[in-house]
Amino acid sequence: MAKVNIGEQTYVLPMATTILGSRLKDRPNFMALGWLTRVNSKPPMLGVAVSQGHASHRAIAETGEFSVNFPTVAMVEITDYVGLVSGKRVDKSELFNLFYGELSNAPMISECPLAMECKLVKTVELPTNSFFIGEIVGAYSEEQFLTEGVPDIKKINPFLLTMPDNGYWSVGELIGRAWSDGESMRKRIKRTDTGP
Ligand SMILES: Cc1cc2nc3c(=O)[nH]c(=O)nc-3n(C[C@H](O)[C@H](O)[C@H](O)COP(=O)(O)O)c2cc1C
Repeated sequence: MAKVNIGEQTYVLPMATTILGSRLKDRPNFMALGWLTRVNSKPPMLGVAVSQGHASHRAIAETGEFSVNFPTVAMVEITDYVGLVSGKRVDKSELFNLFYGELSNAPMISECPLAMECKLVKTVELPTNSFFIGEIVGAYSEEQFLTEGVPDIKKINPFLLTMPDNGYWSVGELIGRAWSDGESMRKRIKRTDTGP
């Protein structure tokens, strides 16, 4: 089939749907966040891309702290809501039950099965967004969402986001094992060691 040029868009399929927590001057604030990625292993860091016009942007720039919370499929409506209204005009601080770990400006959401608090270590300024890189200083869940001590996607039941068609999706079935399913192919194919 012929490839069709579908234009200059950022197609990342899918993204995790999360909620970013921060602290405005007088209250906690929350916004929906899809532009999230791991960026470093030790120490563990993640990056979030936040539009410069958002109240959350100002909060992170001022306090140097934020949280990333993973809602469940039961939280689609409230997650979308915090992505529709700005903390500049609406008080979003009472929408969730909150808890705190090490950082006083990184409110986390009790209803979310997985939450991480981050300390800002670097900001990359881009034309419309700032890419905030945060070191994870604490990650929180509950026994009921873990299997052998690590977060279990089936138990957590998070949801995914696609853009630009703006869909929310549930997670499908386990179809393989990472760093494992390619093993027999690795053994079959001879190394050439001709690289740099
Ligand atoms: C599903 C979803 C994902 C979103 N992801 C992002 C994102 O990654 N970065 C961003 O800057 N805005 C994102 N937004 C938009 C903000 O959540 C939205 O503008 C919000 O009202 C900003 O709130 P604030 O002004 O209180 O910070 C997203 C919105 C939705 C609905």
